[in-house]
Amino acid sequence: MNIINVVILAAGKGTRMNSDKPKVLHALAGKAMVQHVVDCAQKLDPQQICVVYGHGGEAVPKNLKPSNATYVIQEPQLGTGHAVQQAMPYLGDEGRTLVLYGDVPLIQHATLHQMQQAGSGLTLLTVNMDNPAGYGRIVRDEQGDVSRIVEEKDATEAQREIREVNTGILLAPTPYLKTWLACLRTNNTQGEYYLTDIVGMAVEQGIPVHTVQPTHEWEIHGVNSKSQLAVLERTWQQVEAQRLLVQGVTLADPARLDVRGSLVCGRDVEIDVGCIFEGEVTLGSNVQIGAYCIVKNATIADGTQIAPYSHIDSSIVGADCRIGPYARLRPGTKLHAEVHVGNFVEIKNSEIAYSSKANHLSYIGDATIGSRVNIGAGTITCNYDGANKFRTVIEDDVFVGSDTQLVAPVTVARGTTIGAGSTITRDTPAGELTLSRAKQVTINGWQRPVKKVKSQ
Ligand code: UD1
Ligand code: MG
Repeated sequence: MNIINVVILAAGKGTRMNSDKPKVLHALAGKAMVQHVVDCAQKLDPQQICVVYGHGGEAVPKNLKPSNATYVIQEPQLGTGHAVQQAMPYLGDEGRTLVLYGDVPLIQHATLHQMQQAGSGLTLLTVNMDNPAGYGRIVRDEQGDVSRIVEEKDATEAQREIREVNTGILLAPTPYLKTWLACLRTNNTQGEYYLTDIVGMAVEQGIPVHTVQPTHEWEIHGVNSKSQLAVLERTWQQVEAQRLLVQGVTLADPARLDVRGSLVCGRDVEIDVGCIFEGEVTLGSNVQIGAYCIVKNATIADGTQIAPYSHIDSSIVGADCRIGPYARLRPGTKLHAEVHVGNFVEIKNSEIAYSSKANHLSYIGDATIGSRVNIGAGTITCNYDGANKFRTVIEDDVFVGSDTQLVAPVTVARGTTIGAGSTITRDTPAGELTLSRAKQVTINGWQRPVKKVKSQ
């Protein structure tokens, strides 16, 4: 009873997307639609996940994250019943099979769990719609029990009045499903093998048919066009924004936030407009994110303020830091507590310890920087010789004067002061002033070249 297989239908051409990419690979919230479905299916701990893809859709197996999924091609495409049938040889005879759709990306675990709890027999996910056009209708008998599903194109006038529709998602005992699929015929308006015809077969055999409604209607919305994808994207972003608001996050405008992955927030987090969060992002308590920041796969500790237009990627930011505006933290950046990173400072693959500051116009790459270090404006770590990368080590309490180049590999020892405008190519002694600078000279009586004055 508890064994579950999942079949994900993803063979449709998606003609209306007007794209060379298979429909189910188009991204919603930064992730391929079918990946959302696979990820949701994984939560059911299925024995088997079978993705049915169509001709020309070879990119589907290539682009999905590795999972225990099996990929089956459906060619030609003779209808939803035919599609599910392609997966059957890969499924054991025990337990139940859940049918999901690669272009219905927002189905949620709670709804699927509810379907699992509905009882033995066949369970259909249905919704009541004010405008049921295009959907298969759920036909019920006088007792209110489901008797069959009729496709709109095959429906009578009276049946078209029915508001309860088939979402397509269903859960069936696998042995029955196998026999029902084998009995499907194409004697309908579209000449297809309709998956929905198994409902009438179940009823005939006295197998109970249950219906379950999704927790939210958006869970069952399918995507056939870029326009529907854009609408569903906004729906999902509103859901994310509401979730954050309920948790106590302050959003300057819930309509101007994009979460493309998972955003976990502590208490009293504030997020200004236009921010994008990608991958796995964790914000500690009292973190403030200024307008138009892009934060990807990052952890930002309590009390840190990120000023507007900063980009943070694959980085760890400690507590009470001040970052930006216009700062760029690239992969491998690790900042300890109370570090300040100012405008037009780029940091990559570097660790900066407690209370150090790089406030203006610098590049820090492949560096290890100690505590209480001051990096003057315009400082550059020259980490690359055209072929190899080298590290720069700056120990505690160093003061680097403005416009300094640190040619790696080089170590600036504890307490060093570097005079402004220096090019440092050798390790410096601790506690001393080191500088490399041509002597200032004055050329007396030197004349600045003059432009010829144009005659009128
Ligand atoms: C189907 C249902 C209908 C339901 C509607 C919900 C049937 C016969 N009808 O209708 O009751 O209300 O979905 O949206 O099942 N697919 C394949 N291979 C095929 C055909 C379809 O993989 O040969 C996939 C499509 O990619 C799509 C899904 O199955 O993801 C549904 O196919 P579609 O043709 O859109 O079904 P509908 O006619 O809308
Ligand atoms: Mg169809």
